[in-house]
Amino acid sequence: MGMLILGIETSCDETAAAVVADGREILSNVIHSQVSLHRRFRGVVPEVASRSHTSRILPVVEQAFQDARVEPGQLAGVAVTNRPGMIGCLLVGLAAAKALSWIQDIPLVGVDHVQAHVHAAFMTDPDLQLPCLSLVASGGHTALYLVRAPGVTERIGSTRDDAAGEALDKGASQLGLSYPGGPAIEAAAVDGDPASVRFPRSMLEPGSLDFSFSGIKTALLYHLRGPGLQRDLPSLGAEQVADLAAAYQAAVLEVLVGKLRRAALAHRPSSVAIGGGVARNCELRRLIAEDSELGGLPLVFPPQELCSDNGAMIAGLGTLLLQNDHGANMSLQALATSRGAR
Ligand code: KG4
Ligand code: ZN
Repeated sequence: MGMLILGIETSCDETAAAVVADGREILSNVIHSQVSLHRRFRGVVPEVASRSHTSRILPVVEQAFQDARVEPGQLAGVAVTNRPGMIGCLLVGLAAAKALSWIQDIPLVGVDHVQAHVHAAFMTDPDLQLPCLSLVASGGHTALYLVRAPGVTERIGSTRDDAAGEALDKGASQLGLSYPGGPAIEAAAVDGDPASVRFPRSMLEPGSLDFSFSGIKTALLYHLRGPGLQRDLPSLGAEQVADLAAAYQAAVLEVLVGKLRRAALAHRPSSVAIGGGVARNCELRRLIAEDSELGGLPLVFPPQELCSDNGAMIAGLGTLLLQNDHGANMSLQALATSRGAR
């Protein structure tokens, strides 16, 4: 069955585990979402998240073995997200991975969550043309990378404040839409007019590949509550919500696509890939495919379940790291930020 690696992911609000063969063939991919626990807070509450991981991690890992029809003794190693993320959440996955590695006497490897989002493109297309320009847009991260080889990336831009998914989550909350905001805004926007309001597109200095999404939620707040926030939040009809969702989504997505275009012009990549939860968005995929600069390049859009948090991408990158002797030992630590991150 090839080299079998278990991937464990608990950095945020998904308890996930997957068995992957040879870094590519996904035999199982179990994801337990905590969305229903966090919905009433309209965001992830770290303590609630880590407690839920604690109760779900063993059943999720067991399910991953069952779905893959694999016994723990067949594993060649265990990969786990150890950075970046909420420490209390990361520790749960890390403890499970260490226990399994110890009991089975198999190698352990720590994986960077954001790099795993980048790596999902290689699991989608192993012949990905390099260098590849990769956009990772999620609830916690928004960055552009030049990918020179599997696992070898150079960050060429990142957000200076909020992540794109965070902007969508916060915007949705103001519009009275449910959490997580990205899919709620995407669904509401279908019936709306993106030109109904012109929200700012923050492109920063000419040539900058960084992002800034903190202004757009304030722009929506002022739009709703007037200058000086003189009004209470108005109660909005379905049509108004649809128009505002469409206009807000258009502003966020146009910045992502505009920055991808800027990066493509500056770095002349051989392909373009996307990853992270926001990459599930169909409108984003359409805008990239229809862009005059980007649409002509080979585009790699991983299936939606490989874009949002999952264990398969952790197992995939973990396999590569183990093959390249980057295994860890029992002193592997959880880190809130990526090493060397700005
Ligand atoms: O990668 P991910 O699952 O977790 C993090 O690493 O943060 O991304 C979650 C983010 C959330 O902000 C969510 O609103 C956003 O991805 N998201 C979407 C869609 N589905 C999830 N954003 C836009 N459109 C979607 N369909
Ligand atoms: Zn993620």
